[in-house]
Amino acid sequence: MSDPHFPIPEQNAPLIPSQDSDISARKLIAQRRSTPVKLMDPDAEGPDEAQLEAILGAALRVPDHRKLEPWRFIIVRGEARTALGDILAERYKALNPDASEKSIEEERNRPMRAPVCVTVVSSPDHEHKTPVWEQELSAGALCMNLLYAANVSGLAAGWISEWWAFDEDINTALGLVDGERVAGHIFLGKAKSYLVERPRPKVSEKTTIWAP
Ligand SMILES: Cc1cc2nc3c(=O)[nH]c(=O)nc-3n(C[C@H](O)[C@H](O)[C@H](O)COP(=O)(O)O)c2cc1C
Repeated sequence: MSDPHFPIPEQNAPLIPSQDSDISARKLIAQRRSTPVKLMDPDAEGPDEAQLEAILGAALRVPDHRKLEPWRFIIVRGEARTALGDILAERYKALNPDASEKSIEEERNRPMRAPVCVTVVSSPDHEHKTPVWEQELSAGALCMNLLYAANVSGLAAGWISEWWAFDEDINTALGLVDGERVAGHIFLGKAKSYLVERPRPKVSEKTTIWAP
């Protein structure tokens, strides 16, 4: 552990997939890690409705230029995951006519990897004077906030896109309309194992001091 204020772990240090609710903000920022979806326990119980609403409510507190609220959530949980899996499998088959049964079943299983998937939708106002880029950044910040809010609620969380975030048919099936995009599919649940710290860049590698 380096700086006592932001105790960033060494590379490969073991990390827990979710945090204590009373963890310090500094430690949370220094030690949060995504749980890869393959490490999620597919049989874990997810958050109940009240807990999920509290998490989403906290996540919604993001910077948002001119208060446009250019984002929304779509929750996929319970039986709806099976239906989404069938849609993914059918679409995958249509896109890949030679796909093996095994790969089609993998597609069908995608939504089943965790108890809840929250799709964060970027819904920018394309006519507004606030640049769309700023509105999309706000949606990204919402995804990040959601990871933090989930982690301090005892949940493992992972932010993914995968191919289906970019597929128009899948997005239409999920309820996205023209001009909207998936900012992230955020899987929430419990992890099957500990995580390890991954390589991180040094500040000096990512920073220059500007001079005129
Ligand atoms: C916008 C975005 C899209 C991502 N899409 C995928 C994906 O499609 N598949 C995947 O395995 N991980 C995806 N990830 C997750 C990362 O690969 C990885 O889990 C994450 O960067 C780990 O960072 P952390 O340890 O700081 O949480 C995505 C992350 C972001 C920010």
